[in-house]
Order: sequence, then structure tokens, then C-alpha cells
Amino acid sequence: MICHGCKSQNTHMFLSLGSTPLANAFLREEQLATTEPSYPLDVYYCNDCGLVQIGYLVPPELLFPENYPYVTSMSQTMKAHFADLVDSIVSEHSPSKDGIIVDIGSNDGTLLSNFLKYDYKVLGIEPATNIARLAIENGVDTVSVFFGEESAKKVREEKGQASLILGTNVFAHVGDLDSVLRGVTHLLSDDGMFVIEFPYLVDMAEKMEFDTIYHEHLRYFAVRPLVVLFERFGMGIVNVKRTSVHGGSMVVYTKKGSDSSAPSVVQAIELEKKAKLDSLKTYESFSKSVATVKTQLRELLQQLKDKGATIAGYGAPAKGNTLLNYCEIGTETIDYIVDSTPFKQGCYTPGTHIPVVDESRFHSTPPDYALLLAWNFEEEILRKEDQFQQNGGKFIRPIPKPEII
Ligand code: TYD
Repeated sequence: MICHGCKSQNTHMFLSLGSTPLANAFLREEQLATTEPSYPLDVYYCNDCGLVQIGYLVPPELLFPENYPYVTSMSQTMKAHFADLVDSIVSEHSPSKDGIIVDIGSNDGTLLSNFLKYDYKVLGIEPATNIARLAIENGVDTVSVFFGEESAKKVREEKGQASLILGTNVFAHVGDLDSVLRGVTHLLSDDGMFVIEFPYLVDMAEKMEFDTIYHEHLRYFAVRPLVVLFERFGMGIVNVKRTSVHGGSMVVYTKKGSDSSAPSVVQAIELEKKAKLDSLKTYESFSKSVATVKTQLRELLQQLKDKGATIAGYGAPAKGNTLLNYCEIGTETIDYIVDSTPFKQGCYTPGTHIPVVDESRFHSTPPDYALLLAWNFEEEILRKEDQFQQNGGKFIRPIPKPEII
């Protein structure tokens, strides 16, 4: 396959998670009898620029249908994180008020709403109409289109240039990266800033976060390949900052006409070298450990079932569906999954067909064990479900090594 970042053909597949349905394709009851489409989930490393990426690209209109179930504001952690991110961008960079602030993949407007108190003019770009509607109801101007060169031109014609463009947890999702970056360079003012955030490959590799691999995540970024990518568009990385969300993420600040020589950028690339992210061997060993997690998790759950324990899932994130499908864990083991997102409740998980229920079921018929599928919100969930634990209930964390918390 051709590398998404540097266009080299020198890529190597190191991990196959099988053929799986789309991780956010929750099913309604009447869909259970139909055949679910599934797609190969194979991961490649580019021997030239170091980019880690999946090989099979599902068309975006299938990945991000008009009705998309993920809602940012379901998590207090993400709400607080975005409020902090906006405060730090405004205080450190004070983007010009001559331009608008654009968020690509703006979801329900949680991030952008934080700019309103600073009197910025904002525009969300969110293809899922059910989610865009939520944003508009929250007072965040939003258009339902996919961001790319064409839509960027239209936005610039109608709303003027952007002094700041954001893309949190979206840069890994877009198929045509070149079109997005051409769109960004067109829409962004010359002194504007483009800020992205994504789960950081260093964290993913260290903490065995293999379940964050699914078809929506086309690539798994480190800083080094991004320097190469931005260079192609006349942009440079002026700062990077690690954050704790989604199992460990990186915020990358880029500008037109800059180079990528800032100390934080140099340090990140050194860290990536130390973590041996520039060696295929690292990924081959990651792949072996993924298989070990599968064996260990299946064994642990089987032991609990053998003792007559009941097990539920906690959180129905997309990553949970990679974990369940790859580890072949279904209704024989998990009675139900509790999730706070209304769009997911009453549905069934793709592939494994486990019912997703609301929190009242978890509280009225608590299981003996809850498999923490939304492990990235461990702190928030454990705090919230203190009573469950006080009553003897236990959480199981699936990665980096399956264990009872
Ligand atoms: P998340 O990990 O953000 O996403 P992804 O789909 O990208 O893997 O999803 C977390 C899920 O967990 C989301 O469906 C909401 C749910 N959740 C709860 O059910 N209860 C909670 O207390 C929290 C924090 C999240």
C-alpha cells in the first residue's frame, strides 16, 4: 500500500485484527438478523516516514453517516479538557478576532462553545446532521459538510478567513489528508494557527492501546511523520504538548511558513526515537503482545464465569468493539453494556450483538464484574460508580494487561 503521509510504497503490514464491522455501527434490534458488512483491519508501518496507518480505507460516508452516535459532551473529562485547551490557546496565542475560529469535526460544539465567552466568531464543521443539530441548539454555528479543499473555499467565501483552525481527534480520521491540508492552507490566514490533537503513538505503544485501532482511525501519529507531512504544505510544527485524554494524546500547533525546530518538537522526536518508533521490530513485538492480551483476557473472563460470576461491559466506545470483536467476546460472557449515550442505548454492539443499556439497569441489576471498555475514563467512571464498588462490584481493566482493579 501507499503511505498516506509521504506517498512511499515502502510500507509493511505488522498487525491484523481480522475483518470487523465498523466500530460505531451499533445495530437496532430489527437489524440483528441482517448480515453486517465487515472490512479488513490491518495495520502498516511506513519504512520511510514512520507513519503507522491502516491499509483498507472505508468510504467516509459509511464511516461517518448522517446519524453518528458519538457525542463529546457525554464525558465530563472531555468537557473540562476542551475548556482548558481553549483557555491556554487564548492566553498563549490570542488568535486575531479579524478571522473566524473553525473546528473540523466539531461534534456537538463542546470545544467551540468555550470560545464564545471570549467573543470569538466560531464555525463548526460537522458532517453528522444529528450531532450538528445539537451544536446549533447549543448556540454554535455549524455546517454539515465534510471538510476538504472545496468546502474550505466555500467557507472562506461566505465567512472570511480563519485565524485559528482546530481538529481534535479528527486528523487521524480523514481519508484525503492532502485535500484537508489544502483546505486548511486556503482557509487559514497567513499568521493563523492550525491546532490538532490525536492519541499519541508513544502512549499507544507503551500502554498496549491496540483497541484504539478501528476503521475510523486511519493513522496513528507520532510527531516525526507529521513534520514530513506538514512540510509538503509549507507548514511547520511550532509547539507540541502531551495531554492525558484518550489514553495519552498530543496537541500539535502548526503555522504556515514555519519550520519544525522548536525545542518541544525536537524533544518529542527524541522521545519517539528512544521508544524505537522508527523500527519495524517495535511494531512486530507490539503485535505479539496484542495476541497475548487476547489470550489473557479470555482466560480471566472464563475463570470468572466458571465461578458463576456475572459480567457486564462499562461504556460502549468504538474501541470496545475492536476489543470485543478481536478477542471474540460476546453474549456468552457479557450480559449487557452500560453506556450514557442516548444514541447507543437500546442498540446492540456491532459484530458481538451485546445489548447496550442505560445506567439504571447497571444500578438495579449490577453485575459482579464490569469490564471497563471505556478505560480512558477510568477515573471519572470509578468515581461515579463508587457505590457499585462499595457493594462488592469490581472493575476489570483490559489493557495494558488484563487485570481486576
Ligand atoms: P470514547 O472513549 O470517548 O470513544 P471512542 O468511541 O472514540 O472509543 O467513548 C467513551 C464511551 O463511554 C462513550 O460511549 C460514553 C461512555 N461513557 C459512559 O457510558 N459513562 C461515563 O461515565 C463516561 C465518562 C463515558
